[in-house]
Amino acid sequence: MIDTKLKPGLEDVAVATTRLSSIDGEHGALVIGGYPIAELAPNATYEESVYLLLNDRLPDEEELERFRRELADRRSISEEVASILRQAATEEASAMDALRMGLSAATLQSNANDGRETAHRLIAVVPTIVAAYWRFRQGKVPVTPRLDLGHAANLLYMMWGEDPAEDAVRGLETYLNTVIDHGLNASTFTARTVVSTESDLVSAATAAAGALKGPLHGGAPGPVLDMLKAVHQTGDPEGFVRDILENGERVMGFGHRVYRARDPRAEVLSSAAERFYSRSGRDDFFETAKELERVGTKLLLEYKPDRPLKTNVEFYTAVLLHGIGIPRELFTATFAAARMGGWMAHILEQKRDNQLVRPTSHYDGDTGRVWTPVQERKNSHLRK
Ligand code: COA
Repeated sequence: MIDTKLKPGLEDVAVATTRLSSIDGEHGALVIGGYPIAELAPNATYEESVYLLLNDRLPDEEELERFRRELADRRSISEEVASILRQAATEEASAMDALRMGLSAATLQSNANDGRETAHRLIAVVPTIVAAYWRFRQGKVPVTPRLDLGHAANLLYMMWGEDPAEDAVRGLETYLNTVIDHGLNASTFTARTVVSTESDLVSAATAAAGALKGPLHGGAPGPVLDMLKAVHQTGDPEGFVRDILENGERVMGFGHRVYRARDPRAEVLSSAAERFYSRSGRDDFFETAKELERVGTKLLLEYKPDRPLKTNVEFYTAVLLHGIGIPRELFTATFAAARMGGWMAHILEQKRDNQLVRPTSHYDGDTGRVWTPVQERKNSHLRK
């Protein structure tokens, strides 16, 4: 018999088998391509993480060099794409809207090969699009990508126009690895749904970027940073969080659909941020974050005793990216730069063993209505 029990938000519904990542929400554990996140994220380059997801194993030195080159060769954007990004920046479109437009335009010739080459192009080009958009927003010209730099270093180089410090590169690389993949989150599910119709990779990537943009998914770290800055200024985390909860609002950076324990990515990013801030001599901002986490967790337990609400990945994303010097406006687009690797791996996995994604719904509308010609309809009583 078909189970048509309503599952709003598809909570706890498994719809795919994957080798890419595994989440244990009860115990707060995340495994990427077989490696616990705390093992992979601080050690790997982003290219190694992508290779791992696309090939189900880490590369040796020669394979890694070839793969780095393969991605680096696909970084450039044409003058036409740059012009779209200039226009997006002039009109103050968000970075995610610019990314969506840039992705579609930057892959004009990619439809001939809708497999790995397109996947590599999509992964490689995100930093170039994001950095070019940001340069235009600053009234500057885009910086040409460098072939000799890794994915993370090149992103910072293209944003700033100068060689990034080693600490900043390591911090960003840890971030990119940490969020590269995370089971069937909303954007990844979106990407898999699009290719399940035998549509193409570019359509799937732009749809996924659209899903990531929302504040309940990838849009949370911006508001987290606003909260952190406010609390850092007032020194009153308790008053700030209590006001939010008294107004019936959500404390951004806390809670997760799957984790009932602390999000393991918050752990990895918190350690990375701690290292970064202590080396840069700005420990006070990191201390504010720790205090806000402590107070927020305590108050959420008081206001929502039935729901364990701990810090999620976005909380320490805001702390780390802000420390590195990534502007708030680019937080979600930087997330997309990382997640593109995961989206592509999921898409290729879906294509290997595809079944059209097509759930069902429960109907609670009317039935048996009788057609009335438009001239005879009187809806005035329905209008206010
Ligand atoms: N602050 C306050 N209350 C929260 C909360 C938060 N951050 N997260 C969840 N809750 C509460 C809800 O208000 C709801 O309470 P109620 O039952 O009294 O109405 C309960 O917890 C369940 O919320 P629900 O939205 O059904 O759970 P979910 O599993 O769908 O929520 C999130 C997951 C991520 C959408 C949610 O925790 C949230 O909105 N967090 C803040 C945004 C954020 O940080 N997003 C990044 C996610 S990585």
